[in-house]
Amino acid sequence: MNNKTILITGGCGFIGSNLAILLKTKYHGYEIICIDNLKRRGSETNINRLKEAGVQFVHGDIRNPEDLHFDKQIDYIIDAAAEPSVMAGMDSTLKYVINTNLNGTINTLEMAARHKAGFIFLSTSRVYPISYLESIKYTEGATRFEIDKVQSIPGISQKGISEQFPLDKARSVYGTTKLASELILEEFREFFDVNYVINRCGVVAGPYQMGKVDQGVITLWIARHYWKKDVSYFGYGGAGKQVRDVMHISDLFKLVDFEIHNFGLVNGKTFNAGGGLESSVSLLELTDICSRIIGNKVKAHSVPETRKGDIPVYITDNTRISTEIGWTPEKSITGVVTDIFEWINKNEKQLKPILDA
Ligand SMILES: NC(=O)c1ccc[n+]([C@@H]2O[C@H](COP(=O)([O-])OP(=O)(O)OC[C@H]3O[C@@H](n4cnc5c(N)ncnc54)[C@H](O)[C@@H]3O)[C@@H](O)[C@H]2O)c1
Repeated sequence: MNNKTILITGGCGFIGSNLAILLKTKYHGYEIICIDNLKRRGSETNINRLKEAGVQFVHGDIRNPEDLHFDKQIDYIIDAAAEPSVMAGMDSTLKYVINTNLNGTINTLEMAARHKAGFIFLSTSRVYPISYLESIKYTEGATRFEIDKVQSIPGISQKGISEQFPLDKARSVYGTTKLASELILEEFREFFDVNYVINRCGVVAGPYQMGKVDQGVITLWIARHYWKKDVSYFGYGGAGKQVRDVMHISDLFKLVDFEIHNFGLVNGKTFNAGGGLESSVSLLELTDICSRIIGNKVKAHSVPETRKGDIPVYITDNTRISTEIGWTPEKSITGVVTDIFEWINKNEKQLKPILDA
């Protein structure tokens, strides 16, 4: 196998650092370079972990094109640098979100064009508009909202949301920077010969995610249980019945690994990719799973009012990606919670100031 050089932007973040280490572990001969500006609290703790695995770290910012000059040939770029919170951009962080998530991606694409590098873009389920997601018809079950069989908009079934879901209304500034990046990607393919694949991921979770209130809910929930802190069910009557599907980081790695090594099959394509119905969970169910696995019960507060930008249910319909390339997620939500719990337990001292802040 030809050795490759892969650049991962946001390479000290949750997804970037895990992909870097998993790639380096599987393909010793590959050169993996991670660039990160260490904006996310906790990302700095991954520098040593990357170095120990033989991954190169570069302190840099994708908002600065000059930070994206590399003398050696880069074969693939995984774009994982972002401000990934949906709530970000709804306040004073607006400029940061646009400058990093959109302008930073354009800088990275210019670099990809210079190197003729394949571009793997980590997009988001949040490209789908909020009002359409709110209009999904669902029934309130005992522990979760369940998607109805009959729907009035395309791209939604009991399997979840597919790529046919409409795209024409507001989706949050975060989601818009991602969708705008997707559009720019196609321009770069047409006019600058940059080959790409887009993965619209739902919730991704696993060890090394520095969960906080506005991003990384699975880690946040586990941390709250671990350090015996209360949790809150926000919105939709405050019963905790809102549902998300959760993809384990190891399943995302399998996907990206396949894409790098079968780029011809995925070039120019956009896939929804997530944990799917099998690995979906409501907050109420998550509380139960956490208390069983961690062994601590915590108090759950109810805040009935729905926050702007929140959605009642998101489940990824993986039909397209499964049919076209055979990828399906394997890890269950219980597996995700167990792995995060073990990571926190093993690194309690280092993680407490970050996750129990
Ligand atoms: N985690 C999820 O559930 C999820 C779901 C869908 C899509 N995504 C996408 O995956 C990508 C990675 O997300 P994550 O969960 O690893 O987030 P993360 O916050 O853990 O990692 C992002 C990293 O990017 C770095 N960064 C931020 N601004 C930067 C800049 N200007 N220059 C260089 N580095 C910068 C941060 O310091 C951080 O280390 C993002 O593009 C996100 O939108 C994540």
